[in-house]
Amino acid sequence: MASLNDDVVAALGKVASPDGKPLPQTDTLSDIVVTDGKVFFSITVDAAAVQAWEAVRTRAEAAVRAVPGVKSVMVALTAERTGGTVGAPPPQRPQMPPGRGSARASGGGPPSPAGIPGVGAIIAVASGKGGVGKSTTAVNLALGLRDHGLKVGILDADIYGPSMPKLLAIREKPQTVGGNRLKPIERHGMPVMSIGFLIDEETPMIWRGPMVMSALTQMLREVEWGTLDVMVVDMPPGTGDAQLTMAQQVPLKGAVIVSTPQDLALIDARRGIAMFQRVNVPVLGIVENMSTFVCPHCGKNSDIFGHGGARHEAERLGVPFLGEVPLDIAIREKSDAGMPVVATAPDSAHAQIYRDIAAKVREGLQATARPAPKIVIEA
Ligand SMILES: Nc1ncnc2c1ncn2[C@@H]1O[C@H](COP(=O)(O)OP(=O)(O)OP(=O)(O)O)[C@@H](O)[C@H]1O
Ligand SMILES: [Mg+2]
Repeated sequence: MASLNDDVVAALGKVASPDGKPLPQTDTLSDIVVTDGKVFFSITVDAAAVQAWEAVRTRAEAAVRAVPGVKSVMVALTAERTGGTVGAPPPQRPQMPPGRGSARASGGGPPSPAGIPGVGAIIAVASGKGGVGKSTTAVNLALGLRDHGLKVGILDADIYGPSMPKLLAIREKPQTVGGNRLKPIERHGMPVMSIGFLIDEETPMIWRGPMVMSALTQMLREVEWGTLDVMVVDMPPGTGDAQLTMAQQVPLKGAVIVSTPQDLALIDARRGIAMFQRVNVPVLGIVENMSTFVCPHCGKNSDIFGHGGARHEAERLGVPFLGEVPLDIAIREKSDAGMPVVATAPDSAHAQIYRDIAAKVREGLQATARPAPKIVIEA
């Protein structure tokens, strides 16, 4: 009996491109992810041909929706800019591996998401569970990478609860440039973009699946990021549509998983790791956040959430362990006051911990050779 994957590919075979070719033979499809009856993929075409392809996208969506067993479908049409739009000449710096999008240029296999012109490596900071310190880690990791001499940008992909306005004390609105492109806000030498710069913090945002995809795509592709070695993406908690969208739409070089040491958080971290592995994104390692608590009064250590759980989990799963960040009031106060420790207390022990984590992430990026993209993955 044919699997749902086969049925989806067969249905797409009946959809023709503007030149009359069956869609799977056009070299425009991303990985097709089938998860629990939900189908996600994108069609990437030349910017000049977008209009002709919009009807194909609609037909592809309808064809897949009609496949028995498919509960929902999301097909994004994305345009690949053909170089030169970001100003400076092609930017890849030699120390970073080439963008995932380069698979397209080599002509082998189905295309992966197109790279962001000018951006060397994009990494996601994620966790299955909320509130474990992803955003705090993302900011300080970005600053740590900056301190290692890399040009770094930060994308806040948490459209449900953006943190960058607060963590970086950003209250201004980004300016538009050249029509509908946005200029990111600059902080500590890093361009930063967040949906929180565009919407009122008090406005409850309801995002439906396709809106998630288009908001993220726009923040990635319609922002003047300039030339970056690394873009650090602060992910929303969980393993839902937004994460899958990122993994599919963004040529991610790797993911950093943040977990607190206790079992419950680790179960969620494991889920996060499994999700990235399913979509072929290498896990660069796990950070144990809110590890040992050093009492500011008596100086004694207390392991409030336990200690060492993430290190054991990393060993068990065979992924790198990146380091332990203590639970410390200074981190919380500085973070929440928009003054991340690596920027505002660079000589502190905490800043050194984040720089050490950043060094390991950088090594991981250099070592990562991307596996060939899969066509269909069923969860
Ligand atoms: N090592 C730490 N020591 C003390 N406080 C911390 C530490 N890491 C994070 N915090 C604090 O914990 C709270 C949650 O952190 P943060 O917002 O970074 O988590 P998150 O995982 O991004 O949350 P969400 O899932 O809501 O996006 C914040 O108040 C932050 O200042
Ligand atoms: Mg967060």
